Amino acid sequence: MCGIVGYTGREEAAPILLDGLARLEYRGYDSAGIAVQSRDAEGSMRTQVRKAKGRLKALCEMTGNGRDVRGCCGIGHTRWATHGEPSVANAHPHSSGDRRVTVVHNGIIENYREIREHLEKKGHVFTSDTDTEVVPHLLDDYYRGDPVEAIIRLISRVRGSYAFGIIFSDRPGELYAVRKDSPLIVGTAEDGNFIASDVPAILKYTRNVYLIDELEIAKLTADEVRFYNIDGEEIEKKATLIEWDAKAAEKDGYEHFMLKEIHEQSQAIRRTIEPRLADGRVVMDELGMSEEEVRAVSRIHMVACGSAYHVCMCAKTVFEETARIPVDVDLASEFRYRNPILLPNTLVIVVSQSGETADTLAALREAKARGHRVLAIVNVVGSSIAREADSVFYTWAGPEIAVATTKAYSAQLAAAYLLAIFFGKVRGTLNDAEARKMIKELQKLPAHVDRLLEEKKKVQLLAAKLAAANDMFFIGRGLDYAIAMEASLKCKEVSYIHSEAYAAGELKHGSISLIEEGMPVIGIATQEDLYEKTRSNLVECKSRGGFIIAVTPYGNYSLEGVADEIIYVPKTLPAYMASVAVVPMQLFAYYISLARGLDVDKPRNLAKSVTVE
Ligand code: F6R
Repeated sequence: MCGIVGYTGREEAAPILLDGLARLEYRGYDSAGIAVQSRDAEGSMRTQVRKAKGRLKALCEMTGNGRDVRGCCGIGHTRWATHGEPSVANAHPHSSGDRRVTVVHNGIIENYREIREHLEKKGHVFTSDTDTEVVPHLLDDYYRGDPVEAIIRLISRVRGSYAFGIIFSDRPGELYAVRKDSPLIVGTAEDGNFIASDVPAILKYTRNVYLIDELEIAKLTADEVRFYNIDGEEIEKKATLIEWDAKAAEKDGYEHFMLKEIHEQSQAIRRTIEPRLADGRVVMDELGMSEEEVRAVSRIHMVACGSAYHVCMCAKTVFEETARIPVDVDLASEFRYRNPILLPNTLVIVVSQSGETADTLAALREAKARGHRVLAIVNVVGSSIAREADSVFYTWAGPEIAVATTKAYSAQLAAAYLLAIFFGKVRGTLNDAEARKMIKELQKLPAHVDRLLEEKKKVQLLAAKLAAANDMFFIGRGLDYAIAMEASLKCKEVSYIHSEAYAAGELKHGSISLIEEGMPVIGIATQEDLYEKTRSNLVECKSRGGFIIAVTPYGNYSLEGVADEIIYVPKTLPAYMASVAVVPMQLFAYYISLARGLDVDKPRNLAKSVTVE
């Protein structure tokens, strides 16, 4: 949540900062601000700050797209409010009284109240309701001419999570950064150096980045970057080359990132599966697990948030069927606080697109602290979860910019299928012929997804018809219930229509009382052995006035008499049906959002990458 970008170099900083923020707006968009070191009329260096409430556009207009704020070193921030309402006063950057120190911050300072009280007693005057504002004041208090020393004192004093970008008005051309539990990278280029909370912010300028580790401090000037540990000693770091090209983070002709990313799904699936297939087998050397270790796993515990949690729900079915390993699934925010029972030989699998979700990261640490191996399915290379997990399986979905996940979800599903086949094969629950069939069907998934996209017009018409609904139900049984959960989440987050996902058989135990004349009920029926059961549940809804939409594979025509509308999807193995059924549901959510005139890529109250609890 919240985006940070910083630049020091030979170019004007403000336009670069605004451009970077535009690419980070998906991380937060209730206010934005920049701070740039500028020379005043007398030639003295001062820090100029410009902030605006609302979308970044307001800040761009206020600063003539950055042209009005001159200077070659600065920091910028786009905010997702935690402490203090969205307002100009609460927007970042925040400065000490005389702007000697100016800071942008992602994360939360937990002990800000006591620090603020302490500083107020010393005469510091605060102008916002944020936790962040204590940081420039505290740094100002500690600063004796050595920024690194002041930053070390700062991080020994504050508790919580943070990524800071810092400038000092008496250190022209110098930009400082430090992080703990919140992502931050340094990028290097010919004409200057950068900091950013996410790669897309600086992808246009460089693919050469350093991943700042916990409690490491970076000092950037136009010509060089230095790193220090918490003892103030200079350390060597190795740069990483980011494989994504700049175009991957652009809309590339699509009206919205969400639509682009829905269309990129076949490619995301292909890129996730192909590198793991060789000679008709699944190869998983990257996990660093011997066959012995795979065989020794007696239980799997999957932990994630949001859509990634829904992937775990689907993965449970696939793993249990294929590898005959019992799988428990937990929401990361619940897992960490309920003293979970992890039996010996339990493999913990965490799933995360961003690799920075605070609860998932905390769950990973909890599992590791209890001595369990953690395998992470992650999209963002070098993210905190990827760095801390024992084994990493990267989904190669490319950058995901729309707040609502689509292609990362599909790539995560593909990763789960591959792992299930691999485990099944090694553990002997899957024979050669079965494994070959599963792999063959897996390779067909991208084509199925593309076919669904060719038929998107039909979904668009249906969405237009239902865009005025106030409530919806998404129902299904077994794996279809997991799909219904994802379909419902997708719809509510971008369309703001209230919806519920229900296990189809559970509806009559209470919630069916909510069904009224004309209420859309979307029934997911992809599991052949459950068609009849789900059909009965849809009939129950129809007879109470529900407007029934069914999602089912070609060949199942048993719903024709029941459903008002049917979306047919290609047939694949029952275990893989989530990968095809989800596509029209993503399109449905997208087109409803459009029909309601909403900002589909940046839905209200949300932000990509939830780095706070
Ligand atoms: C929904 C969505 C969220 C994320 C969740 C976990 O469309 O995007 O529910 O799935 O916040 O995020 P990651 O996967 O980054 O851990």
